[in-house]
Amino acid sequence: MIRVVCPGSFDPVTNGHLDIIGRAANLYDQVIVAVLRNPSKSSLFTADERVELLREVSKDLPNVRVAKFNGLIVDFCRANDVSAIVKGLRAVSDFDYEMQMAQMNYNQAGVETLFMTTNPLYAFLSSSLVKEFASYGGDVSGLVPPGVLEKLTTRLNEA
Ligand code: PNS
Repeated sequence: MIRVVCPGSFDPVTNGHLDIIGRAANLYDQVIVAVLRNPSKSSLFTADERVELLREVSKDLPNVRVAKFNGLIVDFCRANDVSAIVKGLRAVSDFDYEMQMAQMNYNQAGVETLFMTTNPLYAFLSSSLVKEFASYGGDVSGLVPPGVLEKLTTRLNEA
C-alpha cells in the first residue's frame, strides 16, 4: 500500500493541480491532497473552502482524499503513514526552491519527494496568476474546473 501526499495552498485548485493529483492517483494506491492552513498568509479562500473545492473536483477519483494541515509537511507524513510527497514541476523556475524543500525534508525527516513534470498545457499556470487575471475580468474558464470558476467569480465580485 503506497500512500503519497500532494501538499499545497490550493488557493484555489487549478487544472494544473488536478492534472498532477489525477496522475498521482493513477500511480499510487492512495493520494492525500493536503491543504496548508496558514493563518499568517492571506488567502482568497479559507482552508475549509479550499478543501471543499478540492473534494468537489476530485470526487471521481476514489483513491484521493483531502485533508488540512498545519505546521511541517513531514510531520503530516509521519502522522498519516505517507511514503512520499508528490510535487508538480512546471519550469526551471520552480526547481531551485522545490529541490531545496525536498532536500530539507529528506535530510531532517527522511521523507522522499517525487517530482512529476507538469503537463505542458499548464506549465504557465498558478493560482496567483489565475486570481490576478480573473480579478481584472480575464477569462480563466480553461484554467480551473467549472465549480472553481463559479466560486472564484462570486468571491471576486464580493471583494
Ligand atoms: O502551493 P504552495 O503554496 O506552493 O505549497 C507550498 C507547500 C505548502 C507545499 C510548502 O510551503 C509546505 O510544505 N509547507 C508546510 C511547512 C513546511 O513543511 N515547511 C518546510 C518545507 S522544507
